[in-house]
Amino acid sequence: MKIDPGSLSERQRHLFMGNLVVPRPIALVSTISPEGIPNLAPYSLFNIVCYHPVPIVFYTPMRKAGGQKKDSLVNVELTSEFVINLVTEEIAEKMNITSGNYPPEVDEFTVSHLTPVPADLVKASLVKESPFNLECRLYKIVPFGSPDIAGDMIMGEVLRVHVKDELWNDGIIDANHAHLIGRMGWGLYTRTHDLFEIGHPSD
Ligand SMILES: Cc1cc2nc3c(=O)[nH]c(=O)nc-3n(C[C@H](O)[C@H](O)[C@H](O)COP(=O)(O)O)c2cc1C
Repeated sequence: MKIDPGSLSERQRHLFMGNLVVPRPIALVSTISPEGIPNLAPYSLFNIVCYHPVPIVFYTPMRKAGGQKKDSLVNVELTSEFVINLVTEEIAEKMNITSGNYPPEVDEFTVSHLTPVPADLVKASLVKESPFNLECRLYKIVPFGSPDIAGDMIMGEVLRVHVKDELWNDGIIDANHAHLIGRMGWGLYTRTHDLFEIGHPSD
């Protein structure tokens, strides 16, 4: 079978690509509007762009039908800041609740019963229940698409990372015990407890 994604409908392409590039890490993105309304939403079009000279991460809000921007884009455009909270099995259901199509005036911390904690360097809050919180300053927004179907890749410089003490082991992040989850295809998630090791070829 050979598939050209360009030949698929918008919905088919979403399902196809979402099932293809898996598992994807999940960023639970915390932002705040200039008026002070907090916002929380999950994004699995998310990863690290680079480690050096400064660490940069990205997440991509696709536009809603009619080209309407999601709150996690609008707030960053206005404030140039965000926090990425990594997602564990323990908060998977709550993370999913934050993905509802709520109007901008709804605070998803309240709806999901996740706990906001003040960040050090940005106005958006950390999610207390997340083991790793990345305070980020906007680096660049790369828009793509047409007025009908579009998205915006939001890149941010990681300014400070909060690591739960029990997952900080001799100067190394112990992500193996963090129970992080990844996104598979539509509605499916994967756990991260079945690990194996491969050494560098020159070792
Ligand atoms: C696990 C998960 C991952 C998601 N990833 C994305 C994504 O990468 N891009 C996107 O546009 N929407 C994604 N969504 C849907 C958004 O979370 C949803 O549209 C949400 O309402 C956006 O909220 P906001 O307007 O507050 O930013 C995802 C949903 C879930 C449950």
